[in-house]
Amino acid sequence: MGLKTLISFFLTLLLFSCSSLPDSEPVNVEIVDTDSLSLIPFPQQVDKNGNIFKVSSETVLNFHDDTKNEGNYLLNHLNKQLSTPLKVNVWEGQAPSTSIYLDIQDSLFQDFKEEGYQINISKRELRIHAQTNVGIMRGIQTLLQLFIPEFHSEKRDVWYLPGLDIIDYPQFQHRGLLLDVCRHFFDKDVVKKYIDALAYYKMNVLHLHLTEDQGWRMPIDKYPLLNDISSWRLDTNGNEYGGYYTKEDLKEIVAYASERHITVIPEIELPGHSQAALAAYPQFSCNGGPIDVVNEWGVFKEIYCAGNDSTFLFLEDILSEVLEIFPSTYIHIGGDEAPKFRWEHCTKCQKRMRDEGLADEHALQSYFIQRIEQFLNEKGRQLIGWDEILEGGLSDNATVQSWRGMEGGKKAAEMNHQVIMSPTSHCYLDYPLSSIDLEKIYSFDPIPADIQSGKEDYIIGGECNMWTERVSDEDNLDSKVFPRIMGLAEVLWTYPEKRDFENLYHRVRAHQPALTARGINYGFETTGAFIVVETNNEVNIQLKTALPDVIVKYRWLGDQDGFKVYSKSFQLDRTDTLILQAFRDGKTYGDSILQDFAYHKGIGAAVEYHTELNPWYPGNGNQHLFDGVRGSANFRDGNWQGFSGDDLILSIDLGKLKSISAADFQFYHYPNAWIFMPKEISFEWSVDQQNWSQTRINQKMMELNPETRIVKAHMELDDQNKVEAQYLKVVIKNYGKVPAGHDAEGEDAWLFVDEIVLY
Ligand code: ACM
Ligand code: ZN
Repeated sequence: MGLKTLISFFLTLLLFSCSSLPDSEPVNVEIVDTDSLSLIPFPQQVDKNGNIFKVSSETVLNFHDDTKNEGNYLLNHLNKQLSTPLKVNVWEGQAPSTSIYLDIQDSLFQDFKEEGYQINISKRELRIHAQTNVGIMRGIQTLLQLFIPEFHSEKRDVWYLPGLDIIDYPQFQHRGLLLDVCRHFFDKDVVKKYIDALAYYKMNVLHLHLTEDQGWRMPIDKYPLLNDISSWRLDTNGNEYGGYYTKEDLKEIVAYASERHITVIPEIELPGHSQAALAAYPQFSCNGGPIDVVNEWGVFKEIYCAGNDSTFLFLEDILSEVLEIFPSTYIHIGGDEAPKFRWEHCTKCQKRMRDEGLADEHALQSYFIQRIEQFLNEKGRQLIGWDEILEGGLSDNATVQSWRGMEGGKKAAEMNHQVIMSPTSHCYLDYPLSSIDLEKIYSFDPIPADIQSGKEDYIIGGECNMWTERVSDEDNLDSKVFPRIMGLAEVLWTYPEKRDFENLYHRVRAHQPALTARGINYGFETTGAFIVVETNNEVNIQLKTALPDVIVKYRWLGDQDGFKVYSKSFQLDRTDTLILQAFRDGKTYGDSILQDFAYHKGIGAAVEYHTELNPWYPGNGNQHLFDGVRGSANFRDGNWQGFSGDDLILSIDLGKLKSISAADFQFYHYPNAWIFMPKEISFEWSVDQQNWSQTRINQKMMELNPETRIVKAHMELDDQNKVEAQYLKVVIKNYGKVPAGHDAEGEDAWLFVDEIVLY
């Protein structure tokens, strides 16, 4: 769809909705281009039929008792926009001006999935029909979106809708958003706002992450300390932070979702991410505590003791009360990120492993999950767990939610288990727009390309995960979820051949006012501008934007000049910070972006790695250490290269003889993320690869900046004198194993490095 058709469509709608229009039909309805309808997700099939349908106070909304819930829902929404309320259920005989019908029709759809619906809009009738109430509700959302872009803004006497015939049904049956209300707490009204928004985009699952190391958010009558103690943590200012829903709140949330045909799936984390519960009931930990509710972010070693039968009774009591509140077939039990350290050192856990013939602690985790699964299955429920539940043996009926990539999900599907895909690569809304933007989410395909044929059907859908470690207020939460979730909504509903990013982008933009009217703080689609660097002998810098209607301006921090409009690529000629800012419609778009560059004698060096790149943190491949690009305080910015457990061993060719006096290194140091500064750096240089000189520095000679967690290591090669060299050998010794006392004691440490700067 071109921009022109889009504009003409919006102009058309403007005409349609003008309340001063005479009662006669607007003449230019024919120019409606179905592609430019602002529907998200876009329906499988839309045809225009040339009619115009008028909605006014004379319009009658007809529905039977079997669609009362949906009928009242539609009535409320339509009446919000009309000066005079609609008439309801005046069936034949009154010769109404126009009628809207909601119809459950058993035989209408043969192969449509449960949520399918059909809309036919003619001159006098607008009919939504479906086989189920769910389908009617999905169709209602399409109808409400037909009023965009102005539906939200004011009450009008008359609206005109284009005549359309729509047939629609989802590709995937599970379309969800995970909301973490534990790291930061969001009250009932925020949750309900999200349920409304999910309904609007035909999502059907709210995955409510209710328990964590940092807070427990639901009451369990039998264990009141789960609220008195586990719902509260002491924040860094020494203030109590926390909260919880009452059971009435939760019932209200579930009912509210149910009216919109959305399932709330509760997540009760076990055996890990359970430190808040163990702070209140340390008798269910391995060593009895004392344990505090956590007030930092990461993975923590206090987990439920698997050797203690009373742990299982405790969890079954909790789950029994969870099942009373949440009627969902699926119950999520977490299962991710459970360090095995406590189990390895617990006599009860070790005895359990011997008694049950379990080979290792992964098998013990599998035993743990299977006991819980059996309990849930006996109650008629199904278990969902994160992909770690594959380790040590997957329990019989479990559904796997794949987050560490798609591999776990693929494996589970090939074992005939249901799978929900939410890989960190595409579905993590806590990640910055620089790594996951609307377009990235929109490129997501929940079906792995190389899955065994015939196993695709086990992939039941996907979710975006909104973790809230760094999101504490509602506006910020909204701006992370919207508009990105709209991309996922379409990925999971609409078949790939119908999808086109540029088209989505315009539709998403058209929704912005409607979302604002719903109290949603719409964020940005992407970072606005980004930097592409190509390093050969020089560093070539290009500034790009993913959006058609954005311009990019830039300046160097060290320059006095103001921002310049970017028009063509340029070469790095200084060590400085580049500042970019995108603009749309004359306003700044997105945050300004700061990127540090280092211009130095090593730029463009040819590097041979004797250490394999780690696929999680490859940085800029073989050019990474000499590309002039600095890493930022965010170790996931793509400008840090990471190695797990390995020393970094390099052979470097500078291309010609150079005079060098010193070398600078930067490392990341963040023990909570298992990232440690190196033990030692050895640096050798040579003119001919025959005779080598060497210098070393150790950890004590490195300097940590605690604010940024960046460690600087400076190395003089020869007491201030320059040396001549073309060839270098560098060995950076990994810290090795995570040290004693750390939650991940004994695991491989990460080494993160951004650049080797030569002077
Ligand atoms: C997860 O992100 N730990 C599931
Ligand atoms: Zn134990």
